[in-house]
Parts: sequence; C-alpha cells; structure tokens
Amino acid sequence: MLDSRRIMQRCDALARHSELAGGLTRVYLSQEQAAANRLVLGWMREAGMSARLDAAGNCVGRYEGDRPGLPALLLGSHLDTVRDAGKYDGMLGVVAAIECVHALNANGRRLPFAIETVGFGDEEGVRFNATLLGSRAVAGTFKPEVLDSVDADGVSMREAMQNFGLDAARLGAAARRREDVLAYAELHIEQGPVLEADGLAVGVVTAINGATRFAVEIDGTAGHAGTVPMDLRRDAFAAAAECALAIERRCASVPVLVGTVGKVEALPGAVNVIPGKARFSIDIRAPEDAMRIAAVEHLLAEMNAICARRKVAMQVIKTHEGGVAACAPWLMDQIGAAIAAEGIAVRKLPSGAGHDGMAMIELCDIGMLFVRCEKGISHNPAEAISAADAQTGAQVLLRFIENFQPKTRA
Ligand code: GLV
Ligand code: MN
Ligand code: MN
Repeated sequence: MLDSRRIMQRCDALARHSELAGGLTRVYLSQEQAAANRLVLGWMREAGMSARLDAAGNCVGRYEGDRPGLPALLLGSHLDTVRDAGKYDGMLGVVAAIECVHALNANGRRLPFAIETVGFGDEEGVRFNATLLGSRAVAGTFKPEVLDSVDADGVSMREAMQNFGLDAARLGAAARRREDVLAYAELHIEQGPVLEADGLAVGVVTAINGATRFAVEIDGTAGHAGTVPMDLRRDAFAAAAECALAIERRCASVPVLVGTVGKVEALPGAVNVIPGKARFSIDIRAPEDAMRIAAVEHLLAEMNAICARRKVAMQVIKTHEGGVAACAPWLMDQIGAAIAAEGIAVRKLPSGAGHDGMAMIELCDIGMLFVRCEKGISHNPAEAISAADAQTGAQVLLRFIENFQPKTRA
C-alpha cells in the first residue's frame, strides 16, 4: 500500500515551489510556502485526514483513532528550506507520514489513538533571526518578541503573518495541550554519511545536538580603498574574517564540536571602499551542552579581543540557544523494534543537525528515524536519497505507528 514513487514525486512537486528559479529556496510565510501548504493540505485530505492550517502557518492533518477525539501521536517534519536547498530535508518526513496514513486509511484501519501529521512552517530559521518557529508555536514556547524580528527586506514577522493571512495576535492558538499529545516522531534524512558507511537504509536517533547561534555586527570606518594606508584602517570585514578563523580554529581543536559562519555581509559593498560595517552569523553545535557553552564563552572573549585590537566595535545578539534534545528511550525502543522487524540491523546514532524535536521536546517525548542519504550531502541541491530507502523508511514508520504503545502516564 505504501508507494515510494508517490513519496518521491511529492518531494519533487514541493521542490517546484521555490523563490529561486532552477533551485530550491522556500522560507517561512512566503508565497511559495502558501503554494506548498495547499499541496500538502490536499494530500492530507486525500489520505483520509481532516486538514487545517494552524495559527502559525503549520499544516496539520488529523486521522481519528477508533473513536473521535483521542490523544494523538504527532508525526511530521518541516516544509521550509535553507537557501539553495535539497528537496528531502524536512519534506520527506511530512510526505512519508502522509503516505503512512494513506495506507492505514486505504485498509480501513483505525488505531486506539489519533494520528496527526504536521508540516511545520519554519524549522530552518532562514527568514527571521530565530529558528524552529513552527514547532515552538505548537509546543507553546514561541517567544512573542520574535514577531518584531525583520527579514532582509525589513518586513517583520508580524507583517509577514498578516500578508500570509494569519493574525499574529492569535499565534498562541497553535499551541497544543500536553494531554492531547502522546509523542512526536519524525522521519528525516540523516544529512550525514554514517548510515551509508554502515550500509544501512535507516537508523534510530539517540539525541539531537545542542546549538547556539549569534548575529554579529562589526562597525569600523568606511574609507577609500586607494588612499588609506593599511595601518590606519578600521576594516570591519577584515575583523569579521579574523573572528571567523578564530571560530574555525577553536572548533577544529575539539572533536565533535562544530562552528560555522554561514552568512556574511560587507557594507557598503563596493570594490573600492573599505568595509565600514560587517555582519555575520555564527552557529556552534556540540553533543554536550557544557562543551558548547565553554566554546561559546571562549569564542566571545576571543572575538572581543580581536575587535579591541582592531579598534572596531562589535555587537553580538544571541538568536538561538537549544540544549541537547535526547530522544525518549521508550520511543527509541519502539522505532528500533520496527527496524528489526524489517530485518535491518538497528543502528543508533546522534543527530548533528537540528530538528523540530528540539522544540517539541517541551511538549512531549520525541523520537526520530533517520533515512540514509547519498554521500551524507544535505543543505545542498545535490541532496539525494533512493526510492528504495524512501520505501524502507516509510515501511518502518508505518510499522512503528501500527505497533505504537503510548507510554502509560504517571
Ligand atoms: C537545520 O537543518 C539545522 O540543523 O540547522
Ligand atoms: Mn535543514
Ligand atoms: Mn530538516
């Protein structure tokens, strides 16, 4: 009943809704996302679910259990992308969850719990200086001050919601009650090379690494590129570059710690002008919170020293902080049992990438199933999976759902 061709075709169909012609970029509350949402809500209905857009712009489909109104097992992933993205990061988890419900419905199967499939509107945090906005809204941990964050065009999240047909004042209505939710389980591509190296189609996630992100702005003095001697410059971009190298050096010195400067701007941005201002992002991650926190402290001190020596001013804003999110052992056991029942060795692995589970863990226990991706490439248009692995992943997810035993509540 599971149709991997449909899964692959739907990932292709979603990838056509992009702000970037010939590539894939779809950010939160964009017109491209509205088009993707229409597709997803339609697929949810076709699979036998009632479907709605929630107050934060997440697609939510509900498949009732053997009687209406039962607490739900939440399944899903995100529908937004990074810039110039691959077409499976996020989307595969949404489409596979819908495919599983489609199969249950086709067999007239109702379970002793409801199933909800969710396509979160923002996980990547590309548009506003904040991340996991869809899942935070569902978990009830959305910070209202984020509504005032602006995108690169100066549009605030509040305005973007209005343009999208949503009311920021009602955003709280997306939050779910704990008693209505049994667990959150997400299928996602691994985005790394471990499963491929082990020759396995799927694996069980143990925990999602913690992350801290900053937006940094450095102010120097803009000047003539031909007239100001090198020792009299206050070049904001050169200071930013030195900070980026310090981040790289520090993170490379500790195994499993990673640090990235992914977004860089030099202003005013002309070939013959010394940059007077530089802006850049920092993303630091580690599988242990203490390791990440120590690295961040050390790096901020080092960056302050660099800027002081170069006589430039630095402003640092923390845009995200999330600790390690551990998957619940009882969910790991049930996902592992579903993998074993498919005759596949149960490989457990941590996630270096962030996921909606980092926000959902505030609402309920979380579990994750990884699907092998080619060469571990992700956040890249070359991201690829095989149809056979999509089929295996969906089969494991369906088996997990069919055998799901909610944790008995204390
Ligand atoms: C999301 O993909 C992240 O890990 O940043
Ligand atoms: Mn991603
Ligand atoms: Mn993702």
